Amino acid sequence: MYQTKVFPLLSVILLPISLTYHQVYAQYQALKPQTDTFNSSATITPAQQRSAGINATLANNLAVSLNFERSNFAHGPGSSDSFYHVPLGSAAAAPGTLLKLQVDANTTAYTLPPNTALSRFIFQSESINGSKVPVSAYILWPYLPRTETDGLPVVAWAHGTSGLFGNCAPSNYRNLLYQFATIFELALQGYVVVAPDYLGLGVSKDAQGKPLTHPYFGTPSHANDLFYSVQAARTAFPSLSKRFVVMGHSQGGGAAWAAAVRQAQKPVKGYLGAVVGSPVTDFIGLVKTTGSATVAAFIARTLTTLYPSVVKLSDILTPAGIGRLALTAEIQGCLSTATELFADQNLTQPNWTDNHYVQVYNNLTDPGGKPIAGPVLVLQGDSDASVPFPVVTDSVHETCTKHPDSRLHYATFAGAAHVPTMFASQRLWLDFIAARFAGTTVGKGCRTSNYTSARPYRYYQKEQSWFVEYAVDAYETA
Ligand SMILES: *[C@@H]1O[C@H](CO)[C@@H](O)[C@H](O)[C@H]1NC(C)=O
Ligand SMILES: *[C@@H]1O[C@H](CO)[C@@H](O)[C@H](O)[C@H]1NC(C)=O
Ligand SMILES: *[C@@H]1O[C@H](CO)[C@@H](O)[C@H](O)[C@H]1NC(C)=O
Ligand SMILES: *[C@@H]1O[C@H](CO)[C@@H](O)[C@H](O)[C@H]1NC(C)=O
Ligand SMILES: *[C@@H]1O[C@H](CO)[C@@H](O)[C@H](O)[C@H]1NC(C)=O
Ligand SMILES: *[C@@H]1O[C@H](CO)[C@@H](O)[C@H](O)[C@H]1NC(C)=O
Ligand SMILES: *[C@@H]1O[C@H](CO)[C@@H](O)[C@H](O)[C@H]1NC(C)=O
Ligand SMILES: *[C@@H]1O[C@H](CO)[C@@H](O)[C@H](O)[C@H]1NC(C)=O
Repeated sequence: MYQTKVFPLLSVILLPISLTYHQVYAQYQALKPQTDTFNSSATITPAQQRSAGINATLANNLAVSLNFERSNFAHGPGSSDSFYHVPLGSAAAAPGTLLKLQVDANTTAYTLPPNTALSRFIFQSESINGSKVPVSAYILWPYLPRTETDGLPVVAWAHGTSGLFGNCAPSNYRNLLYQFATIFELALQGYVVVAPDYLGLGVSKDAQGKPLTHPYFGTPSHANDLFYSVQAARTAFPSLSKRFVVMGHSQGGGAAWAAAVRQAQKPVKGYLGAVVGSPVTDFIGLVKTTGSATVAAFIARTLTTLYPSVVKLSDILTPAGIGRLALTAEIQGCLSTATELFADQNLTQPNWTDNHYVQVYNNLTDPGGKPIAGPVLVLQGDSDASVPFPVVTDSVHETCTKHPDSRLHYATFAGAAHVPTMFASQRLWLDFIAARFAGTTVGKGCRTSNYTSARPYRYYQKEQSWFVEYAVDAYETA
């Protein structure tokens, strides 16, 4: 265990310079080189390799990515953390009810910015079909929150794709996923970040022990998770403002947009508007451009659970794709492993998006073209390889054509890729959020701003070339 190891190191990092050399040398011990496998040494067995029909090269790549992924879990793989176990007798609780609260999570296992703190809780939410479901969430606390007249301002954060299984929950990741792209910035800017893991991630069984499946791209379900997690967070912490802004990216951009749609149908007091980053709207349009087999595999698992009598995995995936999905489930792999396993050709049926239920689900989950409660700020890079620019532009266009009164600002960023769009647009979304809490009004109607970089774009850093990793020795934080 690492407390014996990390504590001397933390004192090296944190104690003031007045610490004598004598004390530092007294704690000297042999260093290990920085590694990404320090907490996981999983292998892919020959039997797994055979049953998934993958060769030794891919099996090796899968093991490397799996060990990276597992090293980033704050509470280990599987559902080993009893926090995610739902209290018995909570099945009938109304949506929005706080079911479990860890007021102060121990941040030792996380890689948070210094001087932020974490809470975790489980709340009752509602699935796409209206059933009551328990879902987990975290709260990332600033050191110096902004103060509004009615309490601490809240941003409800909707994360992008993290995976399908319990251990893929952002609250189980050391860096909570997204780290400095959004949530760390929000907390450092004084907002209290309330972030649902979404149905099926984190909490993976209900109070009766029945498995809960994550509805991939299930935006109405994620929107429920956003509103009900904010409600439950306020029960847990009455110091929170009743007002909140919704924000999300990618899968969560779709969720934040769906929250604006839900707000137009079923208003919730305190909603101030939504920031929609690189959103998944029409996933069929998305896969027609990207050909993503990860999306196909995740949708296949979702639809065979939602519509078990009419959708088969083979409607969407080839036998090779089905084998890889089965292996993903066996190892409870998340996005890092999916990135390796589903990068191949011939994993999906060529015509899978023609399937009736795929289309029903796309219609159900696509927030584009529906009435929204604004203001909504949509951020999109024109060089996004995961969520194609034309698909998002179409969704904006459809919304603004059908509902010209929509308070929607479409901001595009020339050159910017998928997650990097959140870095390019940071000033804009921070200003937008501050303006909502300040009560600035926005007139009816849609507008577009096309932004370009200050310097020629070819000189800009295009993608993230770093990762946030757990440090076990002081030299790694230099
Ligand atoms: C192993 O499988 C991968 C992925 O299918 C493929 O790209 C690669 O060419 C294969 N390597 C060998 C040596 O067969
Ligand atoms: C590795 O993960 C386990 C949980 O599975 C945890 O108890 C342990 O502290 C972790 N070790 C390090 C070095 O993070
Ligand atoms: C957090 O956990 C670590 C490791 O188990 C322990 O040493 C430390 O005392 C805990 N911190 C608090 C505030 O309880
Ligand atoms: C509704 O969704 C829940 C959670 O996903 C599931 O357990 C339940 O079986 C579904 N009910 C129906 C009638 O489809
Ligand atoms: C994919 O299938 C096509 C048609 O069956 C075949 O020509 C091609 O070689 C396959 N590609 C891979 C990587 O297996
Ligand atoms: C997809 O193609 C297969 C094989 O050609 C066919 O059997 C199936 O009916 C098609 N599915 C749809 C939804 O068009
Ligand atoms: C999905 O929506 C489109 C556009 O409204 C409609 O034409 C189509 O019939 C719908 N498909 C299904 C399967 O409901
Ligand atoms: C922004 O760019 C899009 C094409 O990418 C174009 O259709 C639109 O007219 C532009 N809008 C403004 C306000 O420049």
